[in-house]
Amino acid sequence: MSPVRLGVLISGSGTNLQTIIDNVDSGDINGEICVVISDKKDAYGLVRAKKNGIDAIFVNRKEFLNDTDFNRKILEELKKRGIQLVVLAGYLKILSSDIINEYRNRIINIHPSLIPSFCGKGYYGEKVHRAVLEYGSKVTGATVHFVDEGADTGPIIFQKPVLVSEQDNVESIKNKVLNVEHVLLTEAVRLYCEEKIIVNGRKVIIRE
Ligand code: GRF
Repeated sequence: MSPVRLGVLISGSGTNLQTIIDNVDSGDINGEICVVISDKKDAYGLVRAKKNGIDAIFVNRKEFLNDTDFNRKILEELKKRGIQLVVLAGYLKILSSDIINEYRNRIINIHPSLIPSFCGKGYYGEKVHRAVLEYGSKVTGATVHFVDEGADTGPIIFQKPVLVSEQDNVESIKNKVLNVEHVLLTEAVRLYCEEKIIVNGRKVIIRE
């Protein structure tokens, strides 16, 4: 099976991106990262991409009249490279319906909570873990899912719980969840690239 052509969208440090780079390089993921696109110029994930010889592109929202044109540019960069699977690895913007329609059930996102808790508009990064702490939740975790038109609402591929202890703070929860994110995202991309993920409505079936 030829490697799946991967496009990764980021907005930040790119530790999720790094785990995909490492697992592609080790051969665990039957894929090839053909482009990394960021909406933030200073996203360290762009540095990670360049260090690994991967096309690293900053798409500046300020250079476009509106979100539609901005997303069209991203879609153009994906299509001209024949991208087959889009991975949102800490990408903070909402994708346009143009991109979602073009890549129906071919966009994977990692979210740092157990969806449908602490997700949707305004829930990203440390805000998620602060909300978990303030609510007094005893369990949080990470979710990897396909992306649809909503915010964090697509069919769920994997989830994994993380216990919240009395000693935990935002930083400690973030670190525990981030480690789980890396595992879940890698596993989801690996299985997708081996054509072992089947989507049936809201249900996702793993065909091992
Ligand atoms: C992670 O917490 C992820 O869940 C969220 O943004 C962060 C990205 O981290 N979407 P990194 O850029 O992959 O290190």
